[in-house]
Amino acid sequence: MSKRILVLPGDGIGPEITAEAVKVLDALVGEGLDVELDEGLIGGAAYDAAETPLPSATLDMAREADAILLGAVGGPKWEPLDISVRPEKGLLGLRAELGLFSNLRPAILYPQLADASSLRAEIVAGLDIMIVRELTGGIYFGQPRGIRTLENGERQGFNTLVYAEHEIERIVRSACDIAMKRGKRLCSVDKANVLECTELWREVAERVVKNEYPEIELSHMYVDNAAMQLVKWPKQFDVMVTTNMFGDILSDAAAMLTGSIGMLPSASLNEKGQGMYEPIHGSAPDIAGKGVANPLATILSVAMMLRYSLGESAMAERIEKAVEQVLDQGLRTPDIMSEGMTEVNCEGMGDAVVAAL
Ligand code: IPM
Ligand code: MG
Repeated sequence: MSKRILVLPGDGIGPEITAEAVKVLDALVGEGLDVELDEGLIGGAAYDAAETPLPSATLDMAREADAILLGAVGGPKWEPLDISVRPEKGLLGLRAELGLFSNLRPAILYPQLADASSLRAEIVAGLDIMIVRELTGGIYFGQPRGIRTLENGERQGFNTLVYAEHEIERIVRSACDIAMKRGKRLCSVDKANVLECTELWREVAERVVKNEYPEIELSHMYVDNAAMQLVKWPKQFDVMVTTNMFGDILSDAAAMLTGSIGMLPSASLNEKGQGMYEPIHGSAPDIAGKGVANPLATILSVAMMLRYSLGESAMAERIEKAVEQVLDQGLRTPDIMSEGMTEVNCEGMGDAVVAAL
């Protein structure tokens, strides 16, 4: 039976980059990959069409899909909207409704791009870390939340950081499973010196590793120090596991170590292995519609999809190799352009990857 893939282009550069990723998928279909593609609306595009960032039709298709490929959501056009219907809510809603609790965010430095990093090449050369971010809990979803008016008439904003033990256990297990396939070193990031919620996080992480993954070398780090260490000596890390908000912040920092956020894919998985795949970067409204966006993060997200949801690791590797090959050929979109290289646009990059495949 064909696997179903739901493509959600979204906003900004989303449609441009997903179009290139779909070309790559189509090329593999020509070689025996058995998938059927559907397309749906999400984010601002969905709001414009249906006054909601997550239409029920999209949610239904997402539930039926084996995997979802998402471009990006959001943009200045929708910033004046109430937070409950902003494009970002569409993304958060999908994560929550499908239970996509485990977010894998690799930060890999392609040797061809070592000069694009803002850090010295020796600090980042060969970098390969995986940040595992909890994605359906913590302060992003904790109740109560809101903005209330106090008795004195002053307004007060509030959010709640909550994690139940089972939520910590499953994300730590997910990170351990990945660490077992890599260097077997896991760093759990928390703020246990201040926040009780992450004191529990630390205790549970300790317990899971000790009882279930005795081979893994577990360390703990406070989030402020982790941010500093990521910039100081990032190669000390193998796998990092952390809360929703800390992971949001640290993964952007880690991404930038590699020179361009335009290169990094991500996977968000639930307990059934169903996954949503998206580039780490956002909708980049400043360059949307110009055809200059870098489609490689989305194309590499297709590789992650093949590996984690479709059981096609050989095809995943072929995509990754094809990407390396176009970088070797000196092809660069403007975000990763450097002297002596050949600048190509979004479509040119997609075509080059298909040709290399
Ligand atoms: C991310 C993004 C999202 C998040 C936004 C768009 C809601 O920053 O995927 O990292 O905060 O999770
Ligand atoms: Mg983010």
